Amino acid sequence: MRRESSIHGQWSSKLVFVLAATGSAVGLGNIWRFPYIAGENGGGAFVLIYLACILLIGLPIMMAEIALGRRGRQSPINTMATLSREEGLHRAWGFVGWLGVAAGFIILSYYSVIAGWSLSYVFRAAGGAFTGLDADGVRGMFNALVSDPERLLAWHTLFMIMNVLVVARGVRSGLEKAVKFLMPALFGLLLLLVGYSMSQGHFMEGVSFLFKPDWSEVSGDTILLAMGQAFFTLSLGMGAIMIYGSYLSSKASILKTSATVVSADTAVALLAGLAIFPIVFASGLAPGEGPGLIFITLPMAFAEMPGGLIFGTLFFLLLVTAAWTSSISLMEPAVAWLAENRGFDRPMAAVIVGGIAWFLGLGTILSFSLWSNPIGFSLTIGGEATFIGGTLFEMADYLTSNIMLPLGGLLIALFVGWRMTQRSVEDELDLRSRVLFRAWYYVLRFAAPIGILLVFLKAVNLI
Ligand code: PHE
Repeated sequence: MRRESSIHGQWSSKLVFVLAATGSAVGLGNIWRFPYIAGENGGGAFVLIYLACILLIGLPIMMAEIALGRRGRQSPINTMATLSREEGLHRAWGFVGWLGVAAGFIILSYYSVIAGWSLSYVFRAAGGAFTGLDADGVRGMFNALVSDPERLLAWHTLFMIMNVLVVARGVRSGLEKAVKFLMPALFGLLLLLVGYSMSQGHFMEGVSFLFKPDWSEVSGDTILLAMGQAFFTLSLGMGAIMIYGSYLSSKASILKTSATVVSADTAVALLAGLAIFPIVFASGLAPGEGPGLIFITLPMAFAEMPGGLIFGTLFFLLLVTAAWTSSISLMEPAVAWLAENRGFDRPMAAVIVGGIAWFLGLGTILSFSLWSNPIGFSLTIGGEATFIGGTLFEMADYLTSNIMLPLGGLLIALFVGWRMTQRSVEDELDLRSRVLFRAWYYVLRFAAPIGILLVFLKAVNLI
């Protein structure tokens, strides 16, 4: 059955959908997480595995997720329930929607804290706080910020309010207006910064770090991290793309829009890497800094470079913009559900979702100070004791990106590939070319789920 629209509204054009979905995909994942994880995992080989995951797993699952959303036209929880009913399947598939909402809350809780760091850096950079500081000075400033729970709390609260304000206004006057204004700004800023890095940094060193593979560094966990990063950066497996698909016109091509979003997201991650590593190397710094990478190394570089004050400010502004258009999509599935099932109006629903995520964010805030001692347990595998665990922030990040999102994606691939009738799938996807449909369907049924399973097994050393 084809529903023409969602009760929450509809994007005013296909282009707006592409902007919104790209806004969701392009975020801290591209500019903060991708460079630091690639940096910690040796660069080139990690990047190649990540690109393979994007193409073989990410793109086909994004198409499936959009198709589900557009067919159900409701929050992911209700979409999964409705479609299961229509297809005569077990109610338990509704679990996919719940898993997504849970993942959304956990991601948003720490996402907003990191976005808060970025907000604070916009003001610091603009105020010239980094000018004249040496390496130790910048590092000291970062450490002072993250170990100060009160300051983190203030920025985290501010960022969450920014999100609630957008989501409360609904699809047309909230989400759509925000992305129409913010996305062009984001692209402009990014191009400006890459140009700056090409003219000022050690560009070729950055290129070779990102693209020259060293396979000796690759372990099961590296592959899992690369796959997790692919899901995270494309906003897949938790319903964000599904709900954005539910606001898309029935006439738009799912293949073309997905291909555009995936290409744009990948381009931004690679460009961010190309903007960041040349600057890191030019300052003689190491790429394996961890979550502080862009907050420590970039200000050091900007402190010394001509125009650093302006470009540094613009860089952190870019980061805030990218984070903002992503976090609104993290809220949307839960907000839509509260409006559908609990009868809340949107402003109330947005306040509730923002409030819960805000509260959970306290865990991340304390992870850098009071609770900075890792918690977990030791496991002895093959005579070697391994510690499993970390700070609350590390666990939230690992659990969502590397387990919950790939699991959500796997279930979506199985649902669309194996449980829905081929007729409904073909009808919704509406691909003109048979060959393309066959190729996509094959990858979704076999390559993507088997790939995800193999990565899971490899990570726990079972293969
Ligand atoms: N894709 C976003 C990023 O790269 C994060 C995100 C994950 C957003 C999941 C929505 C859903 O920053």
